[in-house]
Amino acid sequence: QTCILIGAPVDSGKRRDGCLMGPDALRTAGLARALGDLGHRVEDRGNLAPAPHAPDGDGPLHQPNRTIGWTQTLGTAAQEALPNGLPIFLGGDHALSLGSVAGAAEHAARVGRPLFVLWLDAHSDYHTPETSGSGNLHGTPLGYVTGRAGFDGFPPVPNPVPQENICIMGLRSVDRAEREALQTTRIRLHDMRDIDENGIARPLTAFLDAVARAGGMLHVSLDVDFLDPAVAPAVGTTVPGGATVREGHLAMEMICDSGLMTSLDLVELNPFLDERGRTAQLLVDLAASALGRRVFDRPTRAFD
Ligand code: ARG
Ligand code: MN
Ligand code: MN
Ligand code: MN
Repeated sequence: QTCILIGAPVDSGKRRDGCLMGPDALRTAGLARALGDLGHRVEDRGNLAPAPHAPDGDGPLHQPNRTIGWTQTLGTAAQEALPNGLPIFLGGDHALSLGSVAGAAEHAARVGRPLFVLWLDAHSDYHTPETSGSGNLHGTPLGYVTGRAGFDGFPPVPNPVPQENICIMGLRSVDRAEREALQTTRIRLHDMRDIDENGIARPLTAFLDAVARAGGMLHVSLDVDFLDPAVAPAVGTTVPGGATVREGHLAMEMICDSGLMTSLDLVELNPFLDERGRTAQLLVDLAASALGRRVFDRPTRAFD
């Protein structure tokens, strides 16, 4: 298929700078080559810029206007790309997903299919600007795209993603306000304990089956901090006890086998914090698994 690389050097979603270098680190790590080697057509649209926006002062929220500009740009970019291929948003921090997911939801509504979202993250990112303790808007994209109130000044969300269409995996850092809000939602929540006890395959199969039954589109949002910091150090919000390399690849391979993924975010990579590019390389390898890279073309477990 056609993979459309969309550089989204969003750095407004939190205070620690560096994610603006993410798209170029993913390119340097060979993303286009890896996908091309799998037989895909790859179009790199270069890096986008936020739509014109009001200047940001120093309120409790960090750079809300710049994030509003990015949300406009990326919402439009998603809607333009989706009819022509599979957009891969090269982050940039997770604030980019206010735009990428909202745009995907618009597209899905236009073509009459439900949108599902798989959120691979240590965090639930379910805040609103009002509940956020940090004022960092990278903690709010799932709040925004589900239509929570409090996003004044942001583009309206005419087609919020239904809670039951969202699955979060990898959770191990959830703020009190998020926990209280999440407990009364229908969002599918899988924390690291759940993954330790049940593995990642079982809950992921259940979700992918639900997407398939509904004829849904699937947006996958991969936050670097879903992974354990020992294997993916290049992120400002490390939380110990994350997913392993193998769990990451298994999830990506299952997503590929399902044939359901229609858009992908690779977010929160901060190359300034990386070690010899290893986190960027791991993200490229995971993206390759999601798009068809295999050791063998047939199962290797059948030995009889
Ligand atoms: N819940 C914390 C906050 O709101 C952390 C959010 C981290 N989000 C992320 N995309 N890494 O500040
Ligand atoms: Mn910043
Ligand atoms: Mn996140
Ligand atoms: Mn996170």
